[in-house]
Amino acid sequence: MREVFSVPEYIGPEAIVAKKKKYIMPCLSHFYKEPREIVKGEMQYLYDSEGRKYLDCFAGVSVINCGHCNPEITAKVCQQVKTLQHVCNIYLTENFVNLAERLAQVTPGDLQKSFFCSTGTEANEGSALLATIYTGSSEFIALRNGLHGRTKLTMSLTGIGMWRTDPNPVGGINFAPNAYCYRCRARQALS
Ligand SMILES: Cc1ncc(COP(=O)(O)O)c(C=O)c1O
Repeated sequence: MREVFSVPEYIGPEAIVAKKKKYIMPCLSHFYKEPREIVKGEMQYLYDSEGRKYLDCFAGVSVINCGHCNPEITAKVCQQVKTLQHVCNIYLTENFVNLAERLAQVTPGDLQKSFFCSTGTEANEGSALLATIYTGSSEFIALRNGLHGRTKLTMSLTGIGMWRTDPNPVGGINFAPNAYCYRCRARQALS
């Protein structure tokens, strides 16, 4: 099964776990004692190194909603990286503004402006910055069980204990329960 994916040297899950321990920061741990090695994605399906096929109901962490290795998207990405990969934003590039224009057309209300970034963390950090500029306040209310990212501020805004590993979080942040109280502790206490 492995050869068809043309991976040059197969080291296997145990060696990957060992390398992970040695070279990767511990905050990126895996949840399983014997984690599966995923070797291929094909739209809604994933394949592990032992040839098992999975229906991926998780879509990455909801970031691969158009499918794994979607051929239409992959073709466009390959076309772009073969043409131009990066220039500083002091120069003009056309696809940059075309994408922003398309987003303005499909986003609700009068939303017009885009800020492009690579990760959820950056998006949340950017939103927090915009909010402070708009409100003139540096205080935040975050959701109790929320996860917002791994930078100083987004981790401080994160409510879930296991993702909140900074011993000195940013101050001025208060936590509120979710407005939709699924399995709500407050409601359980009242009943
Ligand atoms: C709800 C939510 N916000 C923010 C993040 C952080 O995104 P990233 O890992 O792309 O920085 C995640 C990551 O899983 C997330 O699930």
